[in-house]
Amino acid sequence: MCGIVGYIGRHQAAPIILEGLERLEYRGYDSAGMAVFNGEKIQITKSIGRLKVLEELTHGGSTMQGVVGIGHTRWATHGVPSNENAHPHFNAEETITVVHNGIIENYLPLKEKMISKGYTFVSDTDTEVLAHLIDYYYKGNPLEAITKVMHRVQGSYALGILFADHPDEIFAVRKDSPLIVGQNEDGCFIASDVPAILKYTRKVYFIENQEVVRLRADHMHFYTVDEEEITKEAVTIDWDADAAEKGGYEHFMLKEMYEQPKTVTDTLMPRIKDNDIVIEELGMTDEEIQAIRKIHIVACGSAYHTGVTAKYIIEGIARIPVEVDVASEFRYRNPILEQGDMIVVISQSGETADTLAALRGTQKMGHKVLGIVNVVGSSIAREADNVMYTWAGPEIAVATTKAYSAQLIALYLLAMKFGKARGTLQAPAFCNMLEDLKRLPAQIEMLLSNKNRIQRFANRYIGAKDVFFIGRGIDYAISLEGSLKLKEISYIHSEAYAAGELKHGTISLIEQGTLVAAVATQDALFQKTLSNMVEVKARGAFVLAVTNEGNTEIEKAADYVIYIPRTNPYFTNSLAIIPLQLFGYYVAVGKGCDVDKPRNLAKSVTVE
Ligand code: F6R
Repeated sequence: MCGIVGYIGRHQAAPIILEGLERLEYRGYDSAGMAVFNGEKIQITKSIGRLKVLEELTHGGSTMQGVVGIGHTRWATHGVPSNENAHPHFNAEETITVVHNGIIENYLPLKEKMISKGYTFVSDTDTEVLAHLIDYYYKGNPLEAITKVMHRVQGSYALGILFADHPDEIFAVRKDSPLIVGQNEDGCFIASDVPAILKYTRKVYFIENQEVVRLRADHMHFYTVDEEEITKEAVTIDWDADAAEKGGYEHFMLKEMYEQPKTVTDTLMPRIKDNDIVIEELGMTDEEIQAIRKIHIVACGSAYHTGVTAKYIIEGIARIPVEVDVASEFRYRNPILEQGDMIVVISQSGETADTLAALRGTQKMGHKVLGIVNVVGSSIAREADNVMYTWAGPEIAVATTKAYSAQLIALYLLAMKFGKARGTLQAPAFCNMLEDLKRLPAQIEMLLSNKNRIQRFANRYIGAKDVFFIGRGIDYAISLEGSLKLKEISYIHSEAYAAGELKHGTISLIEQGTLVAAVATQDALFQKTLSNMVEVKARGAFVLAVTNEGNTEIEKAADYVIYIPRTNPYFTNSLAIIPLQLFGYYVAVGKGCDVDKPRNLAKSVTVE
């Protein structure tokens, strides 16, 4: 969960690397460093803290002169954030240096072996072992040394490597951590993710597992781990470069919340044709859909929360049993998968280590996997048997908003398609639901326009200690996400409970003034949730309610009400989540938190 960038070409490398790292700070930001070949030797500058510190230290890169370099922004795994543990890491002679994203699982035995051979270590990282191992195998041929190391290390890695005696080359390799390379007329680039180099080139190559790249200023060569040269096809990235910029908003998170109407439209509309739902990338006939025995949904964090929502919807509409698992549990629990089971993994980044491992494990058991993925060309997108993209564009803020909304849409579409194919969703209801789906973007826009009211309410809660979110059915799934949004960016403790479960223990935590956010959008469960609200209010809670327009009865039990427009009950998550995202955001802003980069978190969780 770190970011790496490299450049070799006609321009000064350091400013380009700093700019690229800034775009990758969402991957980690506890320390940063750069290595540049200055004509004589490799010069390294690194520092604990945000990239800003490195920028200041190097005067925007001007203290590191040279046209070839690599850089790194770190999210600590092995060893605390410190100058010593920051990358790049050197060999003893300072002639080989490495930046690394990933984890070397067998670094301890390797480290012991290297120590027994007289190598000394200055950091606690797993990465330093790579610099020494490459040194150990290096006899003048970088490719040979690198591939030898690749055969000996276990774990995940994307690496950028510089050799002082090959100053006109950068080497990069990948296994299970993302890596792209790009080229323009002035040079070649390596990066963990496209936004880092989008300003310079749209022509990129996705590096596959166990591949090596040798970059020179004017060309690149690709090799297998057995040193055989291979050819690769470039991919042209057609993202709008502005999509990766803040565009006048105070934070990426706010900008991305405001992009939700577009995200929903982009994910929805290309799949509605002639009043029907067409998901070509699903690769399933109606007969195959009819034969589904069970669906297993596997994901992490917010993506898991969309899976919880989907369980209620798919079971409700298509009458197919659905199991939803957190990927880190699924991969180790020896799940029972049978003939006719469908496996769906959901991931914004497409790089989440546990979700990727769950996908691979499932495939090993002989089952096909559908990936619902946002990042085009990511590992999950490439390895899933079928991919349904959520067209949310690049999401930079660590806390997901627009990708979450797009995932919901993809899941609604699947549920409706399955319901129609299996005859459990009849034509009139199907058509009404399609109309409700098409109205969602405008309704989300309307909810976003109420941001000032939510901001005023949020300001009252910046000192809150505990917050509880309650709801039943889909409202419980919404509560899970509302609670996560608040806690991850504001650092206020919050929990989500199925509303009926609160009285089985947690209600003892309710004190005078404790905020309880009750979500009550499911008409069939409205009275039940209302009773739970009365219970907490009677114990001193301040009750914030989110409910459908017209449900004014709720005012009996709530202290503050946010009404959402009417839609099909299965789609209320898309609307109710908007005020809850805004609430979390404004509480965090009010507390002065670093909203886009909350402490201890990273956007792309490539470690398990
Ligand atoms: C929370 C959040 C995370 C991610 C989770 C999975 O706001 O963003 O909980 O949802 O880390 O990430 P992806 O979707 O990239 O697999």
